[in-house]
Amino acid sequence: MKIGSLAIAGSTFLAPLAGITNLPFRRLVKACGCAVVCSEMISAKGLFYNSQKTLTLLQTHKDEKPLSVQIFGAEPEIMARAAAAIEAMGVADILDINFGCSVKKVIKQGAGVALMQDMENSKAVLKAVRKATCLPFTIKIRSGWDRSGSQALQLARIAQDQGVDAVTLHPRTATQGFAGTADWQLIRQLKKKISIPVIGNGDILCVQDAADMMNQTGCDGVMIGRTAMANPFILSQVESYLTHGTCKEPSASDIFRKMKALIHLYVAHFGEETACKMLRGRLAWFVKGMPGCSGFRKELSRIPATNAALELIKDYEYRLNAQDFGCTGEKHA
Ligand SMILES: Cc1cc2nc3c(=O)[nH]c(=O)nc-3n(C[C@H](O)[C@H](O)[C@H](O)COP(=O)(O)O)c2cc1C
Repeated sequence: MKIGSLAIAGSTFLAPLAGITNLPFRRLVKACGCAVVCSEMISAKGLFYNSQKTLTLLQTHKDEKPLSVQIFGAEPEIMARAAAAIEAMGVADILDINFGCSVKKVIKQGAGVALMQDMENSKAVLKAVRKATCLPFTIKIRSGWDRSGSQALQLARIAQDQGVDAVTLHPRTATQGFAGTADWQLIRQLKKKISIPVIGNGDILCVQDAADMMNQTGCDGVMIGRTAMANPFILSQVESYLTHGTCKEPSASDIFRKMKALIHLYVAHFGEETACKMLRGRLAWFVKGMPGCSGFRKELSRIPATNAALELIKDYEYRLNAQDFGCTGEKHA
């Protein structure tokens, strides 16, 4: 698949996930094997006002390339300036606009999915951003506000006419949030409606789901969000399955190795204290379903330092190999 001038080596995209897809996590997923990783959403206004927090979100590393950087906002001029600034910084390989966020704080500004209710302003934003940057340019949209999906089809058509290079569709409505199921049939309809690549997103829980989405909709690539939070291997598994028809389940020691790698990446990026606080919840996701995991997860939630986390992992791995969880542990969580 090509997104504008950029040839993509594969079909898998790590979804932008605010608060999750920071630089350390993206590097981890990339190292597992994923075609394109995406940043957390970046406020165009924050960039305009040189907010330090926003600039921190734009830190990148050569290991994670190609990187898609997502911006959100509603004012054409400010969005265009943000796009030009990101291009000038040389941090992004793809520039993406968020048309899907349904968080109140974002909608109140007329940004995210609120843009889908205002096609005129959406068109102005797309036009201004396309003029401001030569970067491969994508948008990430929802179905719209009602179930018909007509807003998604209309906006994607406008985007294509304005020079957007690919569209990602998460086929849930604004009011649905994450409830109900993603309507993959809308991805199929969109694929028929536009000639630029379509990336399907929503409810891919396993490798077979990704293959089913590609087969049922004809989409050019798949984007995975929540499943990757607990299982960063899913993207490489999907990549392998789509290319070779097979994929390998990660072993427990693969998972522990990645947990340790994530700790080191977090410490290098955020510093020991912040890394430790952030990792308490995050590491626990990786071991869900493993024997005796609930005791381990409880201990992780109290770790005082990352060294303690490394020790805990070592100890849990040892006990798992020995299938020894003492009289308080359980064999199956
Ligand atoms: C914690 C969280 C943060 C998210 N942040 C963003 C974001 O910054 N930008 C965006 O376009 N979508 C965001 N999303 C939506 C996801 O990118 C994705 O569209 C959605 O989770 C559906 O895909 P999934 O079923 O694979 O998770 C977020 C979702 C979650 C759960």
